[in-house]
This record gives sequence, C-alpha cells and structure tokens, in this order.
Amino acid sequence: PALTLYQKVLPIPPPAEVKQKVTNPVTGKEIWYYELEIKPFTQQVYPNLQPARLVGYNGTSPGPTIIVPRGQETVVRFVNNGDRQSSIHLHGSPSRAPFDGWAADETFPGQYKDYYYPNYQSGRLLWYHDHALGWTAENAYYGQAGAYLITDPAEDALGLPSGYGKYDIPLILTCKFYNKDGTLKTSQGEETSLWGDVIHVNGQPWPFFNVEPRKYRFRILDSAISRNFDLFFVKSTATSTRLPFQVIASDSGLLERPVQVTDLKNAVAERYEIVFDFSQYAGQSIELRNDQDAGGIGVDDKFDNTDKVMKFVVSGTQVTDTSKVPTALRTVPFPPASSGIDHHFRFHRTNSEWRINGVGFEDAANRVLASVPRGKVEIWELENSSGGWTHPIHVHLVDFRVISRNGRGVEPYESAGLKDVVWLGRNEVVKVEAHYAPWSGVYMFHCHNLIHEDHDMMAAFNVTQLQQ
Ligand code: C2O
Ligand code: CU
Repeated sequence: PALTLYQKVLPIPPPAEVKQKVTNPVTGKEIWYYELEIKPFTQQVYPNLQPARLVGYNGTSPGPTIIVPRGQETVVRFVNNGDRQSSIHLHGSPSRAPFDGWAADETFPGQYKDYYYPNYQSGRLLWYHDHALGWTAENAYYGQAGAYLITDPAEDALGLPSGYGKYDIPLILTCKFYNKDGTLKTSQGEETSLWGDVIHVNGQPWPFFNVEPRKYRFRILDSAISRNFDLFFVKSTATSTRLPFQVIASDSGLLERPVQVTDLKNAVAERYEIVFDFSQYAGQSIELRNDQDAGGIGVDDKFDNTDKVMKFVVSGTQVTDTSKVPTALRTVPFPPASSGIDHHFRFHRTNSEWRINGVGFEDAANRVLASVPRGKVEIWELENSSGGWTHPIHVHLVDFRVISRNGRGVEPYESAGLKDVVWLGRNEVVKVEAHYAPWSGVYMFHCHNLIHEDHDMMAAFNVTQLQQ
C-alpha cells in the first residue's frame, strides 16, 4: 500500500538531557555528561501493517539532539544495547582520534564507551552517527543518527530566527524501503546504493508542519544511506514556480553572507541551513520538493513520490516577526591560500569493489594514503572516475574550502563557507583545501554513500606530530 502524503506532523527530536555536570580534574572546567543508549524500538509506519523494528539512540530516530554552547566540553557515554557492534562518530567535530569513531574501534552489545568532545568550534550543526566497520549503512539506516548543535553567542547576536523546535527547526532527511508487511527492508546485500522510496523528515514519512507567516531557520541534514537531494519550495497551488530562499550556513556553520537561491543541492551528510520567509504566503500551503535528477546513476532511484519531501501549512493570522537575515553573517576562517596539489585521490569501482586509489579500508597494510605534518595547509584533488556514480566525500578532522570543480568555480553556497563533505559529481575533479590541525593522529576519509563506505570506499590519513 502507498502511504498518504502529509498526514502526520513533523516530529522534533527531543533535546538530550545533561545527566551530570562534572569538573575536569586537569583544566578545572565544567564538563557536561550525557548518556545515550542504543536500543531497539518500534515505529508504526504503515497504519494497518506490522510496526517496523528500529534500533536507535534512546529508542528514537533521529536520536535526541545534543545542544551545547560553544566551548562547553562534553562527554557522551554511548551504551550499546543494540543488535551488534557500534562505533560513534561526531561528524563535523575535530575530535581526538580515540573519540572519532574509528571504524574498527567497536563497542559490542553489553559494553559502553565514553566519548569526549571539545566543542570549541563556532556555532554549527554536527551530527552523531554509527561508523562500525562494514555495518555503518545498516546501523544508520535502522536509526543510529542524531543531531548535535553547537550554539554561539556571536550567532545569537545576529537576530536570525531562533528557538530550537520553534523557529529554528532541524530537518533530518532519510529515505527507506519497507517490506510488504510494514517492516523495514534490510540494506544488507546492497553493494551499489540504497535509494529508498519513502522519504522521511525527522523520522516521519512525508510530514506536514504548521508555521506562522514569518521567517524560519531550517537546519537541513541528509542522513540517508545513498540518496542525495536537490531541494526547492513551491506553492501547492502553483507547483511549477520555485520560490526563493536564503542559504545562511553549511557544514561548518555560517557562510560569509546569505546566498539567495531557488534550489539547493544537499548530498548525503551535507548540512545546509536556510531561512525561508513564509510572510507572503499566509493561509497557503508550501511544499518542499526534490528534483529527482539528484540521485546517483539516474535509473533506479526514481519512485512515485521521491520528488516530494514535506508540506508547510501557513496560518492565516499575521504575526510580528522581529528576526532578520543580516547581509554579512561572519568572517569565515578560510585557510591561507596555498598552491599546488598535495594529494590526488581517485574514487573508482574495480572488480565490483569501491576503492580510493585502488585501496579499501579492509586493506589495513595500505589504507593510510597520506601523511600530513600537523599544521600544514594542503590541497587535495578528488577525482571521480566511476562512470555514472556520484560520491559525497567526507574528510574527518578538518573543515575545508571547496576551491574548484573541473577547474571552474563552485556553487556560491559551497564557496561562501567551509565544509566537511563535498559532492563529487559525475566525471568531476574537485579541489579542496584544508588546514590539517589541531591534533595529530590517524583519521578516516571516505565516500558518505554508506553502501560505498562499507564496501569499501574508505581510507585514512595520518596527521603527524611536528618535529622539533
Ligand atoms: Cu559522517 Cu566518517 O562520517
Ligand atoms: Cu560513493
């Protein structure tokens, strides 16, 4: 059976509660301590069928949103009462290597691991998700992903629409397949991609959300296994006209300035934050849509309603909106310009295996593909030579600047800020530049199409200690 669109309200993931405030014995600073439990739960997706069994953090998916002010250190204990091993990565955080979710650093059912996060970065949307070796796709697909917000006084002073769950709304996108009996279809056995035919926002298929006729900040995260999005807004009564909105932030927080667009490409693991102004649409319905050409190879990723995401029902009562979108948002700390290409990585498929420069993560003897002295600024060139496939490439530890795509400029919303994922399109060569700091250690980089990552388009780089 098909699900009826826009029947259920958009859920807002609950803020995680601080379990205890403790004092760091070394720095004397306060640490906020959280506990999240990986455990099974059910979700009734199809009204008259069986519920789907999921496994998520604290029994919700997405998991609770951890909200911390900039500079507030945290420790999160992830207790594994799930079905199998886990490893947790806080995506977007320059975590110390032992707390970065290294794929082979597995915590098994009945065990827990405490992760320490510095949170010294400027305000941004990060996300925590599973990263277990060979199981990342399945674990994330069954619910192991959640939002993590760093708030920032510099950002608060701008007067953007604010209030988590009120005018500042996370939109966490996923896409899944269900079995005929209503249960979730496994991702096991997939070796190329899992597009999904049911689009979910914050865990709810095609929801609706009641809004006031005013500005809203939406923090968009594509947490799907494989599906990339090209998002746009239309009125329900005039679906051929795309409505303008402003992109204000990306993976690493605020852009230099807002970028006005009528569509936004958001690949797996990328975050974009936008402001949509509903003030001209009082009493109307606005839909968030997806351009279906945003998929991977263009043949097996189009289904009846994957061009639709959610609906906003705008109330007819006028309100006063004092929020604003300043024309300058911040000075982005771009790395100092360097030149030359320090490393070249080719993303390809050979003998039915996904590889980077011929190597996969399971090839432990060869998987460290780069050595970078700590503190160095490097340009990496990423080449897609896998035919029709596209790859969202994520580099751990750093924020990078996207310099060029096939030697030309990139989308203004990509170049006006720093990112940690870049969408490597068909036949593209993309250059990114990053400052390899602040820590030394061995970190992963990989394709964030989680099927590719698990099979085995992932490698590592070693940030080496400075020699005296
Ligand atoms: Cu979002 Cu290596 O992951
Ligand atoms: Cu890929």
